[in-house]
Amino acid sequence: MITAIDFTNRQNRYLRLTDVSEQYLRHIEKKAKEDPYYPTYHVAPRHGLLNDPNGLSYYKGRHHIFYQWFPLGPVHGLKHWYHVSTKDFVHYEDHGIALYPDHCYDSHGCYSGSGVVEGDSLHLFYTGNHLTGDGEVVQSQVHAVMDPDNFIRKAQVIANGSPIAFTHNFRDPVVFEREGSYYMLVGGEMMTNEGGLALYKGESMDQMTYEGTVSTPLGKLGYMWECPNYFEVEEQGIFIFSPQGDLKTDKYNFNNVFSVAYMIGEPMDLERRHFEVEDYIELDKGFDFYAPQTYVDDQGRRILIGWLGNSKSEYPTDPNMWAHMLTIPRTLEVKGNELIQSPVEELVNLRKDKETLKTLHRLHSQAFEMRIMVEEVFEITFENDKGECVTFSSNGEEYELDRSKMTHVYAEKFGTKRYAKRKCLTSHRVMIYIDRSSIEIFCDDGATVFTSRMFVSNLEKVRSVGVSGDLYHLSSAEFLESN
Ligand code: FRU
Repeated sequence: MITAIDFTNRQNRYLRLTDVSEQYLRHIEKKAKEDPYYPTYHVAPRHGLLNDPNGLSYYKGRHHIFYQWFPLGPVHGLKHWYHVSTKDFVHYEDHGIALYPDHCYDSHGCYSGSGVVEGDSLHLFYTGNHLTGDGEVVQSQVHAVMDPDNFIRKAQVIANGSPIAFTHNFRDPVVFEREGSYYMLVGGEMMTNEGGLALYKGESMDQMTYEGTVSTPLGKLGYMWECPNYFEVEEQGIFIFSPQGDLKTDKYNFNNVFSVAYMIGEPMDLERRHFEVEDYIELDKGFDFYAPQTYVDDQGRRILIGWLGNSKSEYPTDPNMWAHMLTIPRTLEVKGNELIQSPVEELVNLRKDKETLKTLHRLHSQAFEMRIMVEEVFEITFENDKGECVTFSSNGEEYELDRSKMTHVYAEKFGTKRYAKRKCLTSHRVMIYIDRSSIEIFCDDGATVFTSRMFVSNLEKVRSVGVSGDLYHLSSAEFLESN
């Protein structure tokens, strides 16, 4: 008999892998993998909870993807960094856990962070989360160096908690180099109850000093900024971050409990610690998208991967002891004042067969891709034999993603529909990726993306109006454990 762990008892969220039996882990892995909603070509946890992608990088000829992982159940608990790598986004090597919460400074979690490749090492920066005996939270920034044999040596780079302007919520470092110096940005909650960004500078990656906070002309945006990303493309600075707090302006913008925003402006002025921008834009219009990161690969592509999930919802898969997955990898381009996302080309290698889309199209698997042309007015319904469904449609002016009729409707308090103003008003190409319980929709040539979970059991048909094109069933990605 395997005894379930009661995670409503907060203490149990800090149970370690060594506190449970191998049998317990095999049991929850079996439950997860047998779940009909478990994805086939997305990176997902073997059991337990996955959240943010971390340390994304192109290193030693492979794409390296780490992610936040609590192994013991579908809740936010003691976080590790799990590690997979791939050359082609179809065949993955599963390296297992890269970072364990095994030092005093990260005893309560190796939180999110990023990667920098230099020489033959991959430098990983993350937040060490520590709870003192009095329950006080101390978050410090840690530098972990991974060598070509994946051996990791770690040391604190910022040991003394957060700077005075911030509360203890201070995390998710991202590091970049400019003119021979290294800069580290850390997101956080300021004492003034607003989200903020701290800048550190160092002549080497293991010695950083606090320079101060970075200002923008935009004023308060939420109470806490998580997962900052910053990069430059042709004289433009791009900042992507995950603000917490109410940013909702209307039915089109920032309707999730926490959403992702980006700003495009002049390159950040690191001397004056100022980012000159005009506006901020929501990066994704779906229900489940958070904490994305980007990196550049050997072909010079900027690739984005996000967490295909959201913090404040219980998911229908929780009873099966797993939660969440990562998005498909997408290339990111800047066009004017907008970010354009497109699925990476390699995903065509997942295609098995091509079918011309029929108005009532019967499915023989729940993992497929659609490449379609949509008219001004269209509707696509993903449905089972009971009429339970998810619908994506447009009345010519806006898009609507409707999850109100799924088999498992959940998180209703955050709404069951999402909208976006349509940018391409005429007929144009749309790409849709479904993987059993996820849907990723790329419209407006990649300027509008909806990323969501969907729970329609025994999905068996696609019904469409105002749509033509092809449907490809997709094979599973392969995850091979490295020795
Ligand atoms: C975002 C986040 C990060 C933190 C991590 C902990 O989802 O809250 O700010 O580092 O998750 O798992």
